[in-house]
Amino acid sequence: MSRRLRVAILISGRGSNMDALIEAARAPDFPAEIALVVSNRPEAAGLAKAKAAGIAVAAVDHKIYAGREEFERSLQIVLETHAIDLLCLAGFMRLLTPWFIGQWRERMLNIHPALLPAFRGLHTHERALAEGVKIHGCTVHFVVPEMDEGPIVAQAAVDVRDSDTPQTLAARVLEQEHLLYPRALRLVASGAVSVVGNRVLGAASAPEPALVVPSSG
Ligand code: GRF
Repeated sequence: MSRRLRVAILISGRGSNMDALIEAARAPDFPAEIALVVSNRPEAAGLAKAKAAGIAVAAVDHKIYAGREEFERSLQIVLETHAIDLLCLAGFMRLLTPWFIGQWRERMLNIHPALLPAFRGLHTHERALAEGVKIHGCTVHFVVPEMDEGPIVAQAAVDVRDSDTPQTLAARVLEQEHLLYPRALRLVASGAVSVVGNRVLGAASAPEPALVVPSSG
């Protein structure tokens, strides 16, 4: 197998998607290793969990910088120091500038708790219920300067139930996030997919499909 790509996960909070990526990357055939976890919040619970899992961690506290770009230049130095190939945003709650995104073009993934392009932004589960959609889910996509846009790598759907609250819906979507993100990272890190315009192609012939529709009722 070719060299495992060195991945950094960027978090701001609890890091449950981070956990799922760390766990998946323990498989000997996984094409990427989690080389670093970085948080913009030093107190993020995920940072302590990553450290306990034996992963290198760094805190780059955005509050001590004069502006976004100063923060990102420090972050970039940390990433370069660890020879990172690919970034995974996992509950990272900072908007990134076009400069930083340009450094990581087609090398930065994000997970969003909705079936993009529906429900960009925050409070996706509340909004899905308010709109009355019957199918909701999550999306892993490459990051581009426009928020919650960019070529879609993989999606997972859940049904919306009559009894759902934003909390119960969020919990079922989160379960799918934990399955989807490792699958999407595997697709990208193995080189199975390529970006053509706004589409990610090649996933259909990969061992794991890019669309997950659980059959749970
Ligand atoms: C997830 O729902 C993710 O989709 C969104 O932020 C949340 C992060 O949760 N971007 P966690 O920190 O991975 O548990």
